[in-house]
Amino acid sequence: MTINNNTRLIGLIGSPVEHSLSPSIHNALYDTFDMNFVYMTFDVKANELQKAVEGMCALSFAGFNVTIPYKQEILKFLDDIDEEAKMIGAVNTVTLHNGNLKGYNTDGMGFIEGLKRMGFNPLNKDVAIIGAGGASRAICVYLLKEGVRCIYLINRTHQKSLELAKEFNSQYNSEIIIPIEKQELKCANLDLIVNTTPVGMWPQISGNPLEDFKFCAHTVVVDIIYNPKETRLLQEARRQGCTVQNGIDMLIGQALESIKLWTGIDISYNHCKKILEGNIL
Ligand SMILES: NC(=O)c1ccc[n+]([C@@H]2O[C@H](COP(=O)([O-])OP(=O)(O)OC[C@H]3O[C@@H](n4cnc5c(N)ncnc54)[C@H](OP(=O)(O)O)[C@@H]3O)[C@@H](O)[C@H]2O)c1
Repeated sequence: MTINNNTRLIGLIGSPVEHSLSPSIHNALYDTFDMNFVYMTFDVKANELQKAVEGMCALSFAGFNVTIPYKQEILKFLDDIDEEAKMIGAVNTVTLHNGNLKGYNTDGMGFIEGLKRMGFNPLNKDVAIIGAGGASRAICVYLLKEGVRCIYLINRTHQKSLELAKEFNSQYNSEIIIPIEKQELKCANLDLIVNTTPVGMWPQISGNPLEDFKFCAHTVVVDIIYNPKETRLLQEARRQGCTVQNGIDMLIGQALESIKLWTGIDISYNHCKKILEGNIL
């Protein structure tokens, strides 16, 4: 990778960001495809989000990604928001053209593509989602678009799942999202369980959002965490016979969508996986 006067910066802002694989993924792709960009992470402290955004504008960044905990807070600093990101209510990708900040959400697309690559079609399926934050909202919107039969929503703060269900059910004029308490969750007719909380993520890898849960072998279990590669939730589900998937597929999918927005370059998933396999993944 050659850095010169024309090199443009792309950032990831959030806190924490030190565990992120995004810099390795993006920089490997920019290098391979001879794209003159550098991707860097910035741990932004609470109350400094506005200053960070102003700094990136002043330095003519090509754009940036947003991660936990700023995907919702970032909305108030943007000039324009893509319709889908508006519906999701969270932004993970921002483009920057002549000082104009436009927000998008590529998480839902990355997730759905990952599911389909493992041969799972969400149409008429019963799903349980743990968590009601930014990633959960993106995944709910995409599962609704794909025609799921129902989504049981479980969250530490139950009130938040009640609010999310009310908001999305009224938007879709349906009762598809059903907020429940964790102890009410039964595997019997579940086709898919998705963890969207950071429980089990490095460095607190002993966490499991479904401790002592009895899985059914036909249920597919996805944990969108990618560090560690196999969380305790996935280890346990796999031990009980389930097909499992970690967050790497979603991470790559959302990264490729972001690159398309910043540069117009469309890199295929398979090509990307080949480049990353062995050293980064
Ligand atoms: N693979 C990928 O590409 C990808 C993409 C996006 C996100 N992620 C991962 O997904 C996770 C969530 O991201 P996000 O942007 O949705 O974050 P977020 O908006 O802050 O939402 C976090 C959610 O997790 C719940 N939660 C947090 N700590 C918890 C705990 N100790 N016990 C139980 N529930 C807890 C929160 O519940 P409350 O409402 O009670 O606070 C909330 O529902 C992170 O681990 C992130 O790295 C992965």
